[in-house]
Amino acid sequence: MAKAPTFSLISILSLGICLPTNSQNTKLSNTQAERTHLHFYAHKALRGDVTAVVVAQAATSNTYRYRFGEMTVFDDRLTEGPNLSSRVVGRAQGMYASADISNPAYLSVYNLVFTEWGLNGSTLSILGRYASLSAERELPVVGGTRNFRFARGHARIRTYLDDLETGRSVDEYDVYVMHS
Ligand SMILES: *[C@@H]1O[C@H](CO)[C@@H](O)[C@H](O)[C@H]1NC(C)=O
Ligand SMILES: *[C@@H]1O[C@H](CO)[C@@H](O)[C@H](O)[C@H]1NC(C)=O
Repeated sequence: MAKAPTFSLISILSLGICLPTNSQNTKLSNTQAERTHLHFYAHKALRGDVTAVVVAQAATSNTYRYRFGEMTVFDDRLTEGPNLSSRVVGRAQGMYASADISNPAYLSVYNLVFTEWGLNGSTLSILGRYASLSAERELPVVGGTRNFRFARGHARIRTYLDDLETGRSVDEYDVYVMHS
């Protein structure tokens, strides 16, 4: 595993944005919009030191192949490299609900909570469809805090590891956001 590319907090470009004026009393203001790319790994454990717990389900959830209606809350470690013992850069905290009757696809609502890279206290909020079987899942980033105020963007997620025996899985993330 090449070490260098795993760290990437890259401001790719800055754009000057002119906010529209709707009255002569309003000042024309310029704000800088930045574009940031983040690359990291998220570790989920369904057994052992669990990071995800089922909190609710329909009475009929287990009659569906993909447990339609079941909701899970999670708090996964984010690391710079793919190894669980790699440098911790934050957490992914939120929930997902099985929301597709005939496919393993989930409504995912969660926050990426960063603690490193000069981003301690900054968060990004994700809301989208996580289709487990897709080689690459794309979820919208709908907002953010601190360094990521006014954030809009998307996360591309690929499975790095999915070990059914140990119940451990690792997702690789590339997150692209525009923010102030
Ligand atoms: C992860 O790191 C640990 C401790 O440094 C090491 O023993 C292990 O082999 C590593 N695992 C992988 C998959 O690289
Ligand atoms: C992040 O901020 C919190 C609260 O201000 C602080 O307790 C913590 O030590 C900081 N973590 C890092 C890695 O700087």
